[in-house]
Amino acid sequence: MPKLERIAIIGAGLMGHGIAQIFAGQCHQVSLLDVSEDILTKALENIRANLTLLAQNGVGRAEDIEPAMTRIRVTRDLEEAASSAQFIVEAVSEELGLKQRLFQELDDICSPDTILTTNTSVISITEIAAKAARRDRIVGTHFWNPPYLVPLVEVIKGEETSPKVVDLTADLLRSVGRHPVKVKKDVPGFVGNRLQHALWREAISIVEQGIADPATVDEVVKKGFGIRLPVLGPLENADMVGLDLTLQIHDYILKHIERSTQPSPFLKQKVRKEELGFKTGQGFQKWTPDTMERCRRRLLEHLILWNRDHGED
Ligand code: NAI
Repeated sequence: MPKLERIAIIGAGLMGHGIAQIFAGQCHQVSLLDVSEDILTKALENIRANLTLLAQNGVGRAEDIEPAMTRIRVTRDLEEAASSAQFIVEAVSEELGLKQRLFQELDDICSPDTILTTNTSVISITEIAAKAARRDRIVGTHFWNPPYLVPLVEVIKGEETSPKVVDLTADLLRSVGRHPVKVKKDVPGFVGNRLQHALWREAISIVEQGIADPATVDEVVKKGFGIRLPVLGPLENADMVGLDLTLQIHDYILKHIERSTQPSPFLKQKVRKEELGFKTGQGFQKWTPDTMERCRRRLLEHLILWNRDHGED
């Protein structure tokens, strides 16, 4: 495998700074690009704070923080960030036009061997690559938030992506401690977000129909089948209970499950009323600064503990 040492991350927001942290922490030289100095300064502060918190909790070492920070160079100049990079992760806002333009620009700037990846959550890789000249080297790398604590990265082959690019990308991700899985077909939402949003659509529908309140829906997941999920995937579970039983259940239940192809009117109404969740203090439930902070901390502690237990997996 050619050594992919020099990495560029385009977009230093929530995902971009975390992805930069992964590569810098594993001895790669990283260029991190965004549109303003303020965002870049904040990104570096966040990376330092993340690494410190992880080291304090036994994930990583305090003496590795400064060396990792010195491996990250921030810039607002695309040519400076990308011209010598061997592997680029695009993590700008989720807008098709913006991503397409960026890949066109990268065509002119990068060397022909550079691998170009996009961290899009749901957009087809083939569509993102459509306006670029070298579409064979564009591949999806869908990280999950926070990317340095959730190991999975879906590696998605666009219609014209070369299989070698997919392999090299998966190898590199594995070498920096991530858990790549290859997605064979480029469909909107890939695998993870299809599954996740099928569950969210049903959860919202259950509340909308008055079957249960939001707290109860979450409780059913967190105290029920959610406990099994880290060790038993849905298809393993179907095998365990038997596909004959699964068929009987589907025969009866599927006609009752939400299958709208449009976002729920209830969700649209909430957004119209500015009930956006943490952003406005009211979503499916009411949030205070204190309950939001406790919810964030609970998640972080859970993920840190998981990483400590599974560090070598
Ligand atoms: P964000 O809004 O936190 O960060 C996006 C960054 O891109 C901003 O800092 C913005 O200034 C920058 N940007 C916009 N135009 C740019 C340009 N032309 N050049 C350079 N930088 C530019 O968004 P976030 O959440 O980090 O998402 C980034 C991508 O990752 C999106 O495609 C999103 O769908 C995807 N993603 C997000 C996840 C999440 O949980 N937030 C999870 C997985 C993927």
